[in-house]
Amino acid sequence: MRDYDIFKDQVYRLTGIDLNSYKETQMKRRIDQLIARHGLSGYDDFVTNLKSNSTLLKDFLNYLTINVSEFYRNPDQWSIVRSRIVPLLINTFGQDLKIWSAACSTGDEPYTLVFVLSDYIPMNRIRITATDIDDLVLKTASDGIYSEKSFPALPKEYKDKFFIKREEKYEVLPEVRRCVDFKQHNLLSDPYPSNLHMIVCRNVLIYFTEETKEQIFRKYYNALAPGGVLFLGSTEQMMSYKDVGFERLDSFFFRKPL
Ligand SMILES: C[S@@+](CC[C@H](N)C(=O)[O-])C[C@H]1O[C@@H](n2cnc3c(N)ncnc32)[C@H](O)[C@@H]1O
Repeated sequence: MRDYDIFKDQVYRLTGIDLNSYKETQMKRRIDQLIARHGLSGYDDFVTNLKSNSTLLKDFLNYLTINVSEFYRNPDQWSIVRSRIVPLLINTFGQDLKIWSAACSTGDEPYTLVFVLSDYIPMNRIRITATDIDDLVLKTASDGIYSEKSFPALPKEYKDKFFIKREEKYEVLPEVRRCVDFKQHNLLSDPYPSNLHMIVCRNVLIYFTEETKEQIFRKYYNALAPGGVLFLGSTEQMMSYKDVGFERLDSFFFRKPL
């Protein structure tokens, strides 16, 4: 067995994360960088240290799960959510929409959903489930405090309306936070919710192998109610959408037929 295969096996036993589902070249490069940064001699040495050093383990998990996010990321796509997708969903399902933001990182994405939905739906009726594998980002997400770098794309009207500025930080309003339930969830091994009206999953599937991606697309299809919409990121491609059963509404929007 290759060193890296043994390493993947040990990581799985230690963390429950199956590195086989992640693209190997990219993942190995990140892990090799981390090993070098900590002055360790190789995979063996790294695993020994991971077992005894909980800070290193946390660092490693954090490092594996690339967490970059921002509000209203890829504005053109959010404009489509705002002008077409939300009205379509309300038309199909009414105002009590069941929405899942999967791999939500620091919360920028589910909060963006709240901003956009609030143009159509009273805040007290907006409910979003937002999940990520990484509990550190979920903590940031539920605290809801951000720095300027999270806002290159968010329209000013939303920034002014939904944040309080405290010194150099921006705090999302409590009524926005109340719309989102943050939970830990591993896309590779945990059960998926059902009867959803919308799933937002962006900039995470790029790390997975084609086979794993395909399985996730099928699970998303099953998780949606007929008429429900899947919103993917610009780095994600679903070539096989017809085989999975979806119809395409726009480049990154797919609907389970009614
Ligand atoms: C680059 S961020 C994307 C955040 C947000 N969706 C966006 O597009 O701005 C990728 C997120 O995927 C999460 N992630 C990685 N592997 C995961 C898994 N197996 N299950 C759930 N989340 C995962 C990471 O923790 C990270 O927060």
